[in-house]
Amino acid sequence: MKSIPMEQLGQAIRQHGLVRFVEHFAKEFPNAHLKDMVVDGLGPNREMEVQGREVINFGSDSFLGLDQDPRVQDAVARGVRQWGTHNGASRAFASVRANEEAEEKLAQWLGTEEVLIYPSVTLANMGAIPGLVSRRDVLVVDEHAHNSIQEGAKIAQANGVRLAIFRHCDPGDLTSVLRAAAPYRAAVVAIDGVYSMTGALPPLAELNQVCLNHNAVLYVDDAHATAVMGRQGRGTVFDQLGSFDNVLVAGSLSKGFSCFGGFVGCPRDFKLLLKVRSNTFIFGGPVPPPYLEAICVVCDILASPEYEILRGRLDRNVHRLAEGARRLGLAVLGGEHPIISILVGDEEATLSAGHFLFEHGFYVQSVTFPAVPYHGGVLRIQVNSNHAPDAIEGLLGALAELQAEIPLPGPESVVLHAA
Ligand SMILES: Cc1ncc(COP(=O)(O)O)c(C=O)c1O
Repeated sequence: MKSIPMEQLGQAIRQHGLVRFVEHFAKEFPNAHLKDMVVDGLGPNREMEVQGREVINFGSDSFLGLDQDPRVQDAVARGVRQWGTHNGASRAFASVRANEEAEEKLAQWLGTEEVLIYPSVTLANMGAIPGLVSRRDVLVVDEHAHNSIQEGAKIAQANGVRLAIFRHCDPGDLTSVLRAAAPYRAAVVAIDGVYSMTGALPPLAELNQVCLNHNAVLYVDDAHATAVMGRQGRGTVFDQLGSFDNVLVAGSLSKGFSCFGGFVGCPRDFKLLLKVRSNTFIFGGPVPPPYLEAICVVCDILASPEYEILRGRLDRNVHRLAEGARRLGLAVLGGEHPIISILVGDEEATLSAGHFLFEHGFYVQSVTFPAVPYHGGVLRIQVNSNHAPDAIEGLLGALAELQAEIPLPGPESVVLHAA
């Protein structure tokens, strides 16, 4: 039983465009929707039991397969024994020693002076971004930056910060936007290191040069690059820019790391500034200590020669899939990063394509508006190190069969999509 105000609240929420959109698709295409799934079991090579069916999961960000690594699993178990399941206090009061150790190890591996861990990248972006700028400053955001950057920007704007948006990955437009915003006391430009719906990489060097020319600091959300891009998996920034001098970098501990949390890498004095200015750090709880133990273990793996073996396996899988999909004449977005998207276009066709693959034993995420532009639906394939080559070939075979069922755009559409 719901009270009348509760009924009215539900009706009000249902008037929101996005809710109407989602409810419409769930009603019209109940089988094709494949959202909000419940997974009943997992295997070591991304086998997944869902809705009574075993499929190969191509929807995991655990790119290196470290979630299945006994050393990482043992670290979590050891952490539970040492620290309990949770220490139950904001880090504004106290942090367990494992937190300090994890931050030190992360900074050493990454190459920044300091690292501050948050419970997720979302909470890092929603805490650090509004914390970095205030009334006399300017915040400039790539139009396609991750939702959590956009949400952080909204908080900053509500606090009186001037917010401007620049065209996706366009250094020329960033120049114009920063020129138009001057004069300002300080400026932060926030972008993604890897655009997670398409695997697209921004022109980091050009964007950083524009920032330097206009007295702005670059904030790069490298969530999808952490542990899989750059030397030893340090992400996109260091390899492309040679330093973190003008960059604050956010990274993920939940994707390639297979642990839990997010972090911001920063100069020494910024660690305290971020602690004091990030409301999500002060008013929320921390990463549970067992995961901090696991983060330390993963840092050691990434910094060791073993990284090249894991990354090599991932690389071979990525190339096998990207090349195979191109040979089929599909519109393949990305290919340098383990997220590879196949353009479908229409929303209904995208959901049906995902459902077709599921029926053939492969789960990939069908992504539609608003995560991608309207009529820009994609099949988002997340390739992992522990996918067997046969699984990749199987998915390519299913994509070939899909082409016979649903007309899919050809490679020429990639250019149009990028525009
Ligand atoms: C660029 C980017 N930032 C942030 C996030 C959210 O990360 P988290 O799950 O740690 O909040 C994602 C998730 O996919 C992402 O792609």
